[in-house]
Amino acid sequence: MSKLLKSLSLTAALLSLPVLATSALAEGDAVAGKKVFKKCAACHAVGDGAKNKVGPQLNDIFGRTAGGLDGYKYSKAMIKAGEEGLVWDNETMGTYLKKPRAMIKGTKMAFAGLRKDKDLDNVIAYLATFSAEAPASTPSDDSAAAPAPEKTETAAASKPAPAATASEAGAGKVFGLGRVATHEEVAAWDIDIRPDGAGLPVGSGTVAVGEELFTDQCAVCHGDFGEGVGRWPVLAGGQDTLTEERPEKTIGSYWPYLSTVYDYVRRAMPYGNARSLSDDDVYAITAYLLYLNDLVDDEDFKLSDKNFLEVRLPNEENFIADDRETEAHFASKGEPCMENCTDTPVEITMHALILDVTPGSGDDNAGAGAVD
Ligand code: HEC
Ligand code: HEC
Repeated sequence: MSKLLKSLSLTAALLSLPVLATSALAEGDAVAGKKVFKKCAACHAVGDGAKNKVGPQLNDIFGRTAGGLDGYKYSKAMIKAGEEGLVWDNETMGTYLKKPRAMIKGTKMAFAGLRKDKDLDNVIAYLATFSAEAPASTPSDDSAAAPAPEKTETAAASKPAPAATASEAGAGKVFGLGRVATHEEVAAWDIDIRPDGAGLPVGSGTVAVGEELFTDQCAVCHGDFGEGVGRWPVLAGGQDTLTEERPEKTIGSYWPYLSTVYDYVRRAMPYGNARSLSDDDVYAITAYLLYLNDLVDDEDFKLSDKNFLEVRLPNEENFIADDRETEAHFASKGEPCMENCTDTPVEITMHALILDVTPGSGDDNAGAGAVD
């Protein structure tokens, strides 16, 4: 069955060859071809000031010897094809663009090919408008003045560039992988809030509302008063324990900036249902966490983007800017070593299992390595 299919499609491929040759000579529509060229634009530029990208720029491609553009690094296969006399015209380009690798085995153009003859005709007609040596069959509309296709970024954003093949890896500096992220994608990802308040969304919420939300959505793990159920993290208290052997580091005792609370809760909590809270919910919960830490004492206190920076956490001043260039300890060491930093071979001196650093289940004192 699959053999039959294969031989059928092979026949079809063979049959389509002569058809292609004629159809490629047929007049294409340069205006429609501009659209088709979007498929090429991730790798090729054409028009005023076109530069080489992943592929060579395509101005004056008609009459160019294959692989013949100075300053572009072609595959060996393409250069050989040029040496053997391949010159780009309607017909040769039609064959190449239909199935690049079938015509030039080893070409580094990572493009499967244009399946529709119409697209082929049209894109070739479009390219002809940028070629002095283009055949006379060029459409007579104003397409000669067609604006150059949009710049790399936008063109790449609209269509993912086909993945480069392994054999082409490292050949050029650009791999043609991926595409430029859209504004929406960047906005969804770019939600960080800085200590100076940059990134805070507009909104507000009170301690009282926060208490309800917290009781519903957070208390199962963090406890009604942020004391932490079982081994879930403690969110309140711990003041004055930082110098003790086992300090209790909470938002109130340890965290330097309130922005981190807002950012973290909005980004990561409730655990298992992250990013389900509205911006106002997060303001309310943040206000409630301040209340649980005795940093505000009024249930009507309303936290908002307007008064956010007025709230300072008690431990802020114990955090210092880490400037490695001037900090004495680091500055004296100069350039850090990044490879082959030791003459002696690296050795494993101990295993975590034996060191017993992982808390076991059940009895907290039993390490993972302990035998029950
Ligand atoms: C993924 C990137 C990529 C895409 C997409 C792509 N090309 Fe190419 N193209 C290349 C590369 C790389 C070469 C150089 C090939 C070589 O050296 O083997 C090339 C070579 C060519 C050449 C020969 C140029 C010369 O100077 O000899 C033509 C013509 C061409 N491409 C046209 C197109 C057209 C038209 C499209 C869209 C239908 C297209 N290419 C799509 C990467 C691409
Ligand atoms: C299912 C249990 C669970 C729920 C429900 C939950 N959390 Fe958490 N929370 C965690 C865990 C686990 C961590 C530690 C995560 C980590 O370190 O990667 C954490 C960490 C935190 C931290 C950082 C604590 C610290 O000192 O590092 C805050 C703040 C926090 N949660 C707030 C909340 C808020 C607010 C809610 C409700 C909207 C909530 N959590 C709901 C399990 C939960």
